[in-house]
Amino acid sequence: MLEISIKNIKMKNPLMLASGILDLTKSSMERIKDAGAIVTKSIGIHARKGYENPTFFDAGVGILNAMGLPNPGIDEYIKEIDGIKVDVLIGSIFGEDDKEFGYLAKKIAPYINAIEMNMSCPHAKKFGMEYPTNEIDNAVKEAKKSKKPVFVKLGMENLIERAEKAVDGGADAIVAINTIKAMAIDIDVAMPVLSNKIGGYSGKAIKPIGVRCVYELASNFDLPIIGVGGITNARDVIEYMMAGATAVQIGTGIYYEGEGIFTKIKDELKKWLNKNGYDSIKDIIGLALKK
Ligand code: DHB
Repeated sequence: MLEISIKNIKMKNPLMLASGILDLTKSSMERIKDAGAIVTKSIGIHARKGYENPTFFDAGVGILNAMGLPNPGIDEYIKEIDGIKVDVLIGSIFGEDDKEFGYLAKKIAPYINAIEMNMSCPHAKKFGMEYPTNEIDNAVKEAKKSKKPVFVKLGMENLIERAEKAVDGGADAIVAINTIKAMAIDIDVAMPVLSNKIGGYSGKAIKPIGVRCVYELASNFDLPIIGVGGITNARDVIEYMMAGATAVQIGTGIYYEGEGIFTKIKDELKKWLNKNGYDSIKDIIGLALKK
């Protein structure tokens, strides 16, 4: 009832663990048993320590974070995920040019089912959302040489323009959105809260922006869309899917609901589909696009 597929990848349900949460170690990823797929932490060529603390702030109406792409580098990370027991593993990678993306995709390919190219981290110099739009197609082409399906993760900024380039390069799916560039000031000391000053904003408040972005992508392109942003319950998942998403990712939702969120949403989804007379969750994909 909850099965979906993207390219040759079959998932038992449309719920994916979003990149950056509980995904640095094999054991934390293996613990998330009820997710249809797990996305790894974004991995680069070399080890990075990330920014100094504070890197995380609960802004009340959402979360701010700026970690700084901390990761052990591709060679160490491959040792971590070798032999991992999860149904579907998506390897998230970031690079500063097409050669780096090509190199990382080839290295991680034997260990994963698909690649997610991070082209939307909102604050890392050269990487993420600063990756030039007119070079996205070449980077995707390089990553595709790994022979694995390639998903491209984009933020809300210049979304359609960047998605067009990803599609030109041969992307197999678009993941949208990432966190949104934001900041908080500690008024008692008159300084930004995060050490990096600017961070990414996530949580319930960004859901309507994510839904709008997925709707626009699904209206403009004919490829699978994976929706991300502010999901905490089954109704949120249904909303994203009706807007055109084939699958969704959950990250900050774990902060609000705990690791059991995947089990909880999976059960709620089944109940809702039964109550509303749907045999398969696939039947709700894009329903709102037609009205
Ligand atoms: C980080 C934040 C992101 O939103 C992202 O896409 C990648 C990395 C970080 O701060 O590490």
